[in-house]
Amino acid sequence: MASSPDAGSLIGSVPFFSSLNARDKKKLLAQGKEMDYKAGNTIVAEGTTGVGFFLILEGKAEVRKKGKVLATLSKGQFFGEMSLIDDLPRSADVIALQPTKCWAITSWSFASLIKVQPELALGMLKEVVKRLRAAQSSPTS
Ligand code: CMP
Repeated sequence: MASSPDAGSLIGSVPFFSSLNARDKKKLLAQGKEMDYKAGNTIVAEGTTGVGFFLILEGKAEVRKKGKVLATLSKGQFFGEMSLIDDLPRSADVIALQPTKCWAITSWSFASLIKVQPELALGMLKEVVKRLRAAQSSPTS
């Protein structure tokens, strides 16, 4: 589904995509769509099958597992990668804390993205490792 020009300019400003040239960015944009969530909406539900990868364009969302807050994510940060990588159910809930706009792609677009854009995969891995380290150092985990 094609995205609006608005999504294009928002995505252009997200550091996650800074390694892409204009042509690749345009190609990628065409594969995703913008999704709007109200404060309190569950974007991803723990235990469900994952079919999307999400990048926050505006707003804020909280990652919660069994009521415990694992992280707060905002503009430029992504979620939903775990289920798409290992095909297991969603590991946590992700809930919009305020009106939140995401750019979302399907699991199959995500797979081809990772295959053809190693820089994106590396950037994503760095963020995943950062989250893992934060989770390891959390006194309550
Ligand atoms: P997924 O398991 O597909 O769906 C829930 C998402 O929450 C998960 O992918 C990650 O993107 C995100 N997530 C899970 N655990 C954490 C964490 N400890 N810190 C930040 N994000 C997380």
